[in-house]
Amino acid sequence: MTAAQQPIGVFDSGVGGLSVLQALRAELPHERFVYLADSGNAPYGERGDAFVQARTHAITDYLLREHHIKALVVACNTATAAAIHEVRARHPQLPLVGVEPALKPAVAASRTGRIGVIGTRGTLTSAKFARLLATLDGQAQFVVQPCDGLAHAIERSTAQALPTAPDATETRALCARYTGLMGPFGIQNGQIDTLVLGCTHYVFVQDELRGLLGPEVRLIDTGEPVARQTRRLLQAASALAPETGPPTTAITLLTTGALAPLQNAATRWLQLPAQCCATIDLPVGPA
Ligand code: DGL
Repeated sequence: MTAAQQPIGVFDSGVGGLSVLQALRAELPHERFVYLADSGNAPYGERGDAFVQARTHAITDYLLREHHIKALVVACNTATAAAIHEVRARHPQLPLVGVEPALKPAVAASRTGRIGVIGTRGTLTSAKFARLLATLDGQAQFVVQPCDGLAHAIERSTAQALPTAPDATETRALCARYTGLMGPFGIQNGQIDTLVLGCTHYVFVQDELRGLLGPEVRLIDTGEPVARQTRRLLQAASALAPETGPPTTAITLLTTGALAPLQNAATRWLQLPAQCCATIDLPVGPA
């Protein structure tokens, strides 16, 4: 296999990063992908840096060793905040893309200058996020709200083939509780008119959020910019797959947790066949 034909590795604590994979497939339809959901260890958001760093290294090493990935997309804000600097230091040659809450696009989009940011506690209390906020000092008011339990509830909502009423009630209640703590949303002065989805899982509750906040509040996620950045890095490394012929079907989805939830998420959200999913064993422990 030539370098250009090697797959791109993508990982998240669970199924949330599938929202990034969706954008990657749209931007790079001729690339092969290996996606790893660390659902056996999700959620990361309330686990602490040392744990998330150890998992990130174990997953990166596994994807390099077993799948010969040519680039890595860390499709998890929490792992990016805790560990991407370490991955960069360990693998300086590897094209590497992380995700972080899209504050700059939100500043450009907001008219009221009040911007909400939701994410995991790990992301929103990280030094990386504090530095990002500091770069935008004075450009907008940010209302920052960690959403403990929301990513986990979204993981659980994939347990059945079709969404169940109790799952939908739970995710909606969590969205309502956390956005309710943030103050009024809307497009009038003093209201939050833009909400940054600072966790890749939350893309999958955007309909609930829209229902709660109204159609005028803008929701901002990071899938498309991450996909464009991945294209730029591959181009710079002369590692883009040839962009001719039909789109690839070479997408492998792996999970460290139970198989059915990943299959349910893949078919429900990405219209991928259940057969592209498999389980792997990747024990917890320092890399
Ligand atoms: N999807 C992840 C993120 O973007 C992590 C959610 C979690 O595991 O807590 O932060």
